[in-house]
Amino acid sequence: MDIEAIKRKYRRNAVFYNIVDRPLRSVRERAVAKLELRPGDSVLDFGCGTGLSLVLLQRAVGQQGRVLGVDASPDMLARARRLVAQHGWTTVRLVEANAEDDSLETDSVDAVLCFYTHDILQSDAAIERALAALRPGGRIVAAGARRTTGVRGLMLNPVTMSYSRTAITNLDGFDRPWARLERRVGPFEVEERLLGTAYIARGIKT
Ligand SMILES: C[S@@+](CC[C@H](N)C(=O)[O-])C[C@H]1O[C@@H](n2cnc3c(N)ncnc32)[C@H](O)[C@@H]1O
Repeated sequence: MDIEAIKRKYRRNAVFYNIVDRPLRSVRERAVAKLELRPGDSVLDFGCGTGLSLVLLQRAVGQQGRVLGVDASPDMLARARRLVAQHGWTTVRLVEANAEDDSLETDSVDAVLCFYTHDILQSDAAIERALAALRPGGRIVAAGARRTTGVRGLMLNPVTMSYSRTAITNLDGFDRPWARLERRVGPFEVEERLLGTAYIARGIKT
C-alpha cells in the first residue's frame, strides 16, 4: 500500500470530506447497528477519517466503553480530534498509524468497523492487524462502494467509479471488495445498499 499517496489524497479530501457524508448516513447507521455493540464494549474504527462514525460508536458503547480510531492521514485525524475535543469525549482515543503496521493490542476489541476504507480492505496485512486486535467471537463490519452488475451497473457504475477514484488509491477488487475479509473470518454475510452500489459485510472472528 502506498501510504504517502493516501496521505496526499486525504490532505485534499479532508477539506470537503464531511460534506459528502449525507447520502451515506443510512449506510453508516446500518453498519454500526450490525456491530451489535453493547454498553462497555470496546470498538476499533479502522480508517476513522474525520470521525464521522464516532458519535454513533461512542453512544453505543457508553461511558464504560472505549472507542479507538486509527487513521494514516494527519489531516483527516486533525478533524476527528477537533470533534472529540468539542464533545469532551474521554473514552475515545485516536491514533495516527498505517493500518498495516503492527501497533494494536491482540484480542483487545469486541468489534471492528471499516467504513468506506477500500484501500484497507484490499490489504491482507491490514486485515490481519484488524483481526488480531479483535477478540475471538468479535464482529467485524466493512461497508463501502462497489461495482454493481446488470442494467443498474451500466447506469450507476460510472458514477460510483468516478467518486471512488477521488477517495481510494487502488480500484482492485471493486466487484467484491469484501473478498479478502471473507476468506479470513467465520460466519459471513453481505447485504446490498444504495441500489447495489454499496455493500455492508459482516463477519465473526472464530
Ligand atoms: C473514505 S475515508 C473513510 C473515513 C471514515 N471511515 C468515514 O467513515 O468517513 C478512508 C480513510 O481511510 C484512511 N486510510 C486509507 N488507507 C489507510 C491505511 N493504510 N492506514 C490507515 N488509514 C488508512 C484514509 O486516510 C481515510 O481517512
